[in-house]
Amino acid sequence: MRNVNCVGILTSGGDAPGMNAAIRAVTRSAIYHGLKVKGIYRGYRGLISREIVDFKSKHVSNIIQLGGTILKTARSPEFATPEGRQIAYNNIQEEGIDALVVIGGDGSLSGAMQFAKEFDIPCIGVPGTIDNDLYGTDSTIGYDTALNTILESVDKIRDTATSHERLFFIEVMGRDAGFLALNGAIASGAEAAIIPEFSTEEDQLAEFIKSGFRKSKNSSIVLVAESELTGGAMHYADRVKNEYPQYDVRVTILGHIQRGGSPTAYDRILASRLGAAAVDSLLEGQRNIMIGIENDEIVYVPLTRATKNQKHVSHSLIDLMKMLSI
Ligand code: F6P
Repeated sequence: MRNVNCVGILTSGGDAPGMNAAIRAVTRSAIYHGLKVKGIYRGYRGLISREIVDFKSKHVSNIIQLGGTILKTARSPEFATPEGRQIAYNNIQEEGIDALVVIGGDGSLSGAMQFAKEFDIPCIGVPGTIDNDLYGTDSTIGYDTALNTILESVDKIRDTATSHERLFFIEVMGRDAGFLALNGAIASGAEAAIIPEFSTEEDQLAEFIKSGFRKSKNSSIVLVAESELTGGAMHYADRVKNEYPQYDVRVTILGHIQRGGSPTAYDRILASRLGAAAVDSLLEGQRNIMIGIENDEIVYVPLTRATKNQKHVSHSLIDLMKMLSI
């Protein structure tokens, strides 16, 4: 078994609230166990341009409450090339880094998997994305905070929707995953969620209108997951304007407000547990896994499974939302 003495840590892809808590947990638990830590700035891009700094405990002081990522983040086209990954590996060797902890979403962990396939470097993924779309973990870091941001926003929009008796389409993030839209709808008492995982867009809109919009209510809120498959909130508003002109329609796109802000207690605790478990897994000789959480237990998920399998949205949640919004 290869001995790990120095852990490199990076954040990659879209930032997510709680990433800092994870950086702190990896850094402090590694130091606690006698390992060295190196912070890699700007994700894989910084691995290639060698933006690497020795991390001590003080580097992660006073960050658990901060949104974003102190390590910065980037999406790196260069790392997608074999030449880029070779430069990254050479830098890792020269820096004396002998294991990598990657905090990020689907694309970032796919990058880690590819890297681990080509080079002899253990890579541990920590799921950090507001989208919650990684297979093998009940939740990803940032998802709970984003959900809370969504419901605060929807609560506010509800005031106008009710006062003016309007139909609102609110677009939420999720890049082709409906977790934020569906659970955001349940948490905010929205009347419907249009998500890429289920049925065609025709079905979802027609079904919503048919199922009694305004029969018993004077306003309605529909959460729409941003995705080419749904077409987004604008698309639905245009359709309603043309097909059901009797409704007074408005659109709100929540956008990057969902990615920001101080992480919730849930995300801070999740990030702390996953980050510390990433270091534990390296000490146990694990490699090329994602640390997940299932039924409140830490689990190790092979990176191939975490990134290749699709995490399913539960149909029972759709049924629940429909039942509770009559
Ligand atoms: O993956 C996180 C995410 O916020 C998605 O929900 C969204 O589709 C995408 O990133 C937006 O990316 P960018 O910040 O690059 O516009």
